[in-house]
This record gives sequence, structure tokens and C-alpha cells, in this order.
Amino acid sequence: MSDASPSPEAERARVTVPSVRGRKRRDGAEPLVMVTAYDEPGARIVDAAGVDLLLVGDSVANNVLGYDDTLHVTIDDMTHHVAAVARAHPRCLIIGDMPWMSYHVSNEETVRNAAALVRAGAQAVKLEGGRARLGAVEAIIRAEIPVMGHLGLTPQSVLAMGGYRVQARNSDAAQALMDAAKALSAAGCFAFVLEGVPDVVAARVTDALDVPTIGIGAGPSCDGQVLVFHDLLGLGARTPPKFVRQYADLGAQATTAVSAYAADVRAGRFPGDAESYHGSPELRHALGLDDGTTTPGSD
Ligand code: KIV
Repeated sequence: MSDASPSPEAERARVTVPSVRGRKRRDGAEPLVMVTAYDEPGARIVDAAGVDLLLVGDSVANNVLGYDDTLHVTIDDMTHHVAAVARAHPRCLIIGDMPWMSYHVSNEETVRNAAALVRAGAQAVKLEGGRARLGAVEAIIRAEIPVMGHLGLTPQSVLAMGGYRVQARNSDAAQALMDAAKALSAAGCFAFVLEGVPDVVAARVTDALDVPTIGIGAGPSCDGQVLVFHDLLGLGARTPPKFVRQYADLGAQATTAVSAYAADVRAGRFPGDAESYHGSPELRHALGLDDGTTTPGSD
């Protein structure tokens, strides 16, 4: 585990898309740190830790809403969660994830949905997929909304992929991923998530692009890393995948705390005197409680 205190760097100014676009490690830049968050307390925690990029991911589906996959969340769900995150006024850049079917029907609908995320408080949007997304990306960028790409294991393609599997494992698939990254980068994506690809493929793509790559299950060569809030803190229901490093076990700690509360209630130990409001002597008298004992004070 690493040093838990936010670096003095965390004091720096608000993160913007132009400040992220050129962040390449090969040019000496510090790696970008991205974490998901889905609500105001989560956003406060992530921001206080000095994170650069806050992704309101469609993984809200699995981590908060109890769905088995991300295919169930809608643009309305996403705007609801983006707005909650934005109310924390974080310094980090808020990226709103475009959910499945919010950018697949027409460019007009795509732009409208991207704009809904921006109006809710996102400063950029992210969408999944390769060359098939070029039209959508261009349309959103024409509307002045920055776009982050997402390549490799794209969870919205779970049905087409036949499960959550590491992608680009052979040279043809690796080349197709590289071509897609270059084309989407030329179309204007300001950064890419690379998920679930071999480390060597992520390294090649990172080398080939002038915009940063942010890895999740993509090895150490990317320009940044992203983890899901619930995985990193041990709050998830599932056993985390191999690529997760769990920095705390808050789920177990929370269960211990709630159990202690339940035991105190059942044993009559909660609430105690200090956790109660006390009636004034007049009220106690009126209630027939004037038993001569001194009252701890009325509040
Ligand atoms: O929704 C999400 O959490 C994501 C990350 C895995 C990058 O897209």
C-alpha cells in the first residue's frame, strides 16, 4: 500500500480538458489518476484525495443500483448521478459516462444525450467502442463537448463479447485496436480508457497516441490508471477482478459498525444520556416526572 496522504499536488487548480490532453508520461508528466464516483459523498472523498479525473461511470449499475451489468442504466439514471457528483463542486474533471443505447441510434440523439450529461454537471463525456463510434464522437465534438474514448474490454458489449474477457489477445485484434485508437484520436478524443488488454498492447497504443491513455487491467505503461470506487475501498459485492488493488476493506468495517449499533440498541445502550434531548424542569414537572433528581440540562 502506498502513502495515503494527498500529495501537495492535490492543492493545484481545477483540472480541465486542455490540461489533460497533453499529459503523456513519455514527456515527463505525472501519471493521471482517475476514480469513479456516483454521488456527492463519493465525489467529496475522491476530490479530497487529490484525484485528477472523476468518472461517473455506468458501472453505477453494478456498484450502486444492484444490476448484473451496465446495460440497464439509462441517460436519466446517468444525469441523476452526474448531478449528485457535481453538487460536491470537485476540483477534478467530471466525466459523465454515456450509457448503452444513448449514442447508438442517431447523431442527433447522441448529441442531445451528451448535452444532458453536460447540463447535469459533466465537463466531458466518455463512450465505448472503436471505429463504429467515429460518427458519434465527431458529432459530440462538433457540439463543443469533449469526448474520452474507451477501447478494449467494453462492458456495454458484454453480449457481443460473450462475457467479460481480455481483448486484443492476438495480433489482428491488437492491430484493430491500434487503428481504432488512432482514428478516434484523429477525430478529437482527448484521452482514452484502455480496459482489459494485454500490457504490451496498451504500451504500444500509449506510445502511438499523443493523448493520454488511462488503464484498467491494461498494465503499468498507460499514462494514467482508473479504478472503481467500490473495488478500491472494498465496498463491492463481487470478488474484485485480478487487476484491482483493494486499498481498504470498508465493507467489512461498515458491517462491524452497524452490528455494534444493533447490539447497543438491543441491549438498551443506545441512545445514552449524551445522545438525548432533555426536557426543562417545567416540562418534567408537567409530565409528572418531578422526582427531585437534577436534570442534565434542557436542550
Ligand atoms: O463505468 C466505469 O466504471 C468505467 C471504468 C471501468 C473505466 O467505464
